[in-house]
Amino acid sequence: MKTILVTGGLGFIGSHTVVELQNIGFDVVIIDDLSNSNINVLNNISKITGKKPNFHKIDLRNKQKVQEFFKNYTVHGIIHFAAFKAVGESVINPLDYYENNIGSLVHLLQEMRDRKIDNFIFSSSCTVYGQADELPITEKAPIKPAESPYGNTKQIGEEIIKDTCKANGLNAIALRYFNPIGAHDSVKIGELPLGVPQNLIPYVTQTAAGIREQLSVFGNDYDTPDGTAIRDYIHVVDLAKAHISALQRLLNKENKNNFEYFNIGTGTGSSVLEIIKAFEKATTQKLNYKIVERREGDVTSAYADTTIANKELNWKTEKTLEEALKSAWKWQENQK
Ligand code: UD1
Repeated sequence: MKTILVTGGLGFIGSHTVVELQNIGFDVVIIDDLSNSNINVLNNISKITGKKPNFHKIDLRNKQKVQEFFKNYTVHGIIHFAAFKAVGESVINPLDYYENNIGSLVHLLQEMRDRKIDNFIFSSSCTVYGQADELPITEKAPIKPAESPYGNTKQIGEEIIKDTCKANGLNAIALRYFNPIGAHDSVKIGELPLGVPQNLIPYVTQTAAGIREQLSVFGNDYDTPDGTAIRDYIHVVDLAKAHISALQRLLNKENKNNFEYFNIGTGTGSSVLEIIKAFEKATTQKLNYKIVERREGDVTSAYADTTIANKELNWKTEKTLEEALKSAWKWQENQK
């Protein structure tokens, strides 16, 4: 029985990944500082899997606490989700983002080097591509200058891991996520945005639920068929499963280089208006929305070419956009 450390394991993508890990028999230990997650998620994970993961409330910026943890635990791999992720906030407080997202990563990698722990999976983002010159976006697309400190932490994070892999023989995979949405079928875990949601789908579901008065569609003058921006929305359970595939690739030593990166999306782009229509159809809810100005920093269009991920990770998405939107709505309804 292998033990996997999941940092940020009580967060949105982390919690769904813990469930998938437990479902196939891994022992899971979670580190989370609860800064953007709720301790109840731990019980809800146990309700789904019938097994409570070990949990440690640790702020990974605290190097001493990180060292203490590794003194007491032998782990066979690490999936590292713990990070700040609000783009706008990162522009206002860049140092918090660099300290947390980069500092925590460095502390983990130092322990891995010193204790000869291998197999590291990193949460990266399609934001590293900026507005790609060609669509769909392949892994060959160049990295563009980051639009925000948040985006920069993902680029720098990948660089740090790449250098560490080279110097210290570590094996790592960065997964460049497109837009994760939806919730677990059990409706026991899902997305829990703090305050006013910044991302589209939680804003949509909260508007349908009457918590928000109106959804603002950020711009309809983009160079796209209906003028609204296009993204690749992937069901969070499909995304979670990509982590399992990546982990198994490392554990089975099937990786081709000691640092690899893959696009994790569906391969299909949807515009904001298409999402609104698809949500209304899937849930029979009517959405109150209006068109407003573009949001600063948004790109026109981003969707993945998943050919390499499909082949190398032996992984593909199984769920539809409709299922993802339905599950997001079911989750929202369950919050009452
Ligand atoms: C955003 C981040 C991205 C990050 C990801 C993490 C920015 C510019 N990008 O992606 O770096 O990795 O979140 O979750 O913030 N929209 C509306 N109305 C809303 C909210 C969103 O029209 O109230 C539109 C946006 O303009 C965009 C699309 O919906 O076209 C998706 O937005 P969002 O869910 O915030 O994701 P990204 O911006 O793609």
